[in-house]
Amino acid sequence: MSSERRFRLGVLGSGKGSNFVAIAEACAAGRLPAEVALVLSDVPDAGILDRARERGLRAQHLSPGSFRTRLDDAAEAAWIAALQAAQVDFVVLAGFMRILKAPLLRTFPRKIVNIHPSLLPSFPGLEAWKQALDYGVKVTGVTVHLVDHGIDTGPIIAQASVPIEDDDTPERLHARIQQVEHDLYPSALALLLAGNLEIEGRRTRRA
Ligand code: GAR
Repeated sequence: MSSERRFRLGVLGSGKGSNFVAIAEACAAGRLPAEVALVLSDVPDAGILDRARERGLRAQHLSPGSFRTRLDDAAEAAWIAALQAAQVDFVVLAGFMRILKAPLLRTFPRKIVNIHPSLLPSFPGLEAWKQALDYGVKVTGVTVHLVDHGIDTGPIIAQASVPIEDDDTPERLHARIQQVEHDLYPSALALLLAGNLEIEGRRTRRA
């Protein structure tokens, strides 16, 4: 057995959880020196909770409170308490559809990671694959980045491109983007967890 430190991940998601599955599989296969300590969702019947429970992992719905796009203050305190109780080292956003506020960012400085389905800074926000298709770009992709106070603005850890085909539909394009996500997210997390990432301002580079 490896004596390598295993980091504890708190995964936050609102959707079906395919990126969570890719990360959990990378942990189980030893491709990530980590274990999923806790999965939290703001959506009571989100697939990500089922995918976690199927794997015997702790998974919990927590109320987001009264806001539509963020956690309200009381809710955010409860989410922070749950992550701290689970002794989480990194917070991994995997299809989490709410904007994080200062208290969470302060609690886990440079330890919160997000995946976004476009080549940022193009197409931040919702349904980025559809935004790309509607705009008419020929190439879009996937970005893994550290989370800061903006919307999809934090320092970029890794990106990969996905060509857009002439007869693409939003569904087909998102499916191809997701295939790329499932490779890119574990490999970007591996870099970060290994401490192989230098961060200088907005720029990151492999140490
Ligand atoms: C993923 O495509 C992810 O990039 C996107 O939600 C999907 C979640 O899928 N996230 C965002 O759009 C965040 N702004 P999953 O639940 O199957 O991992």
